[in-house]
Amino acid sequence: MLTTRQPVLRNFWYAVMPLSMLSDGPQPFTLLGEKIVLFLDEHGEPAALKDRCCHRTAQLSKGWCEGGKVVCGYHGWTYDRSGAVVRIPQYESGRDIPCQFKTTAYRCTGRYGYAWVCLGEPIDDIPRIPEFDDPGYRTIFQFYETWATSGLRFMENSFDNSHFSFVHRNTFGVAAQPAPSKYLIEETAHGFYAETVIDAVNPPHLRQVSGVQEPITTRHMRNEWYRPFARRLDIEYPSGIRHIIINSLAPIDDGHIQVAQWLFRNDTEADCPAQLLIDFDHEITREDKVIIESTDPDAMVDTSRHGVEYSMASDKPGMIMRRQLLALLREHGEQEVHAGNVASQSTSTA
Ligand code: FES
Ligand code: CO
Repeated sequence: MLTTRQPVLRNFWYAVMPLSMLSDGPQPFTLLGEKIVLFLDEHGEPAALKDRCCHRTAQLSKGWCEGGKVVCGYHGWTYDRSGAVVRIPQYESGRDIPCQFKTTAYRCTGRYGYAWVCLGEPIDDIPRIPEFDDPGYRTIFQFYETWATSGLRFMENSFDNSHFSFVHRNTFGVAAQPAPSKYLIEETAHGFYAETVIDAVNPPHLRQVSGVQEPITTRHMRNEWYRPFARRLDIEYPSGIRHIIINSLAPIDDGHIQVAQWLFRNDTEADCPAQLLIDFDHEITREDKVIIESTDPDAMVDTSRHGVEYSMASDKPGMIMRRQLLALLREHGEQEVHAGNVASQSTSTA
């Protein structure tokens, strides 16, 4: 599935940038192949416009902000969050600006410390993260980085409990236990809920992370997938410590995603320093990144195409994602577009 070729994916919210990055002025981002500019309006709320001035097409992200408006760096035409040109410095005062002088505005809102953007009409809400406002939890902003893969590859890996003994054999994976644990999966209105218990290596230098003193600990995982590319990974250790990771992946193009990762913990900085938790998850995440970036980002959702990829029982979460995404495409009158049918289209028109 080439994400930029499936218009329905424009109808979801994606966390595209930490709000803290917008305090220095407008910033560019590419979402589903579309160049946008993000900035803070006069109320301090994030706004998103097409990154193209309607005068001579300069990128607005090369300009600056003044009073919550974005000023084009080429000739100073100034835009508000609705995309309208509200000032043309070269006009004599009092002269009206034609109402067609504007650029496209997109839905944009601030949530959980990030600017979220939806290029179309939202089908689902932004996932709820109750821990963000819960004084019993601390919020740790872990990662904001680009991965050379697709959202589906990242998501299926997140729910794949047969890769730990291999990809994570140097961290928490139990090499002697390659057979996957049982998953209980329930489909929901937004994706699915998946629950399992796994064993994990618990080395002495990381016992603050789990609060468990034994060399092997269990992790009770209550995970959720939010279509198309968000997830909640709620790990409960026998110590009662909760380690809750949230990811929202913003598709940049067909081969790249921007990964936002939050961590919520029901312990304190004195119990386990935030930097240790970032380093801990960073090491594990690097292991996933190396292998996922080696896969073909064009993950097929139409599994009737035999011979493209073969599957085993533990691939079930990823297969449910494929089925739900394929149904979503069909509900919106779309066919799956993948590298194979793009190539055959260009051959037939040649
Ligand atoms: Fe933007 Fe001229 S190109 S003001
Ligand atoms: Co992994």
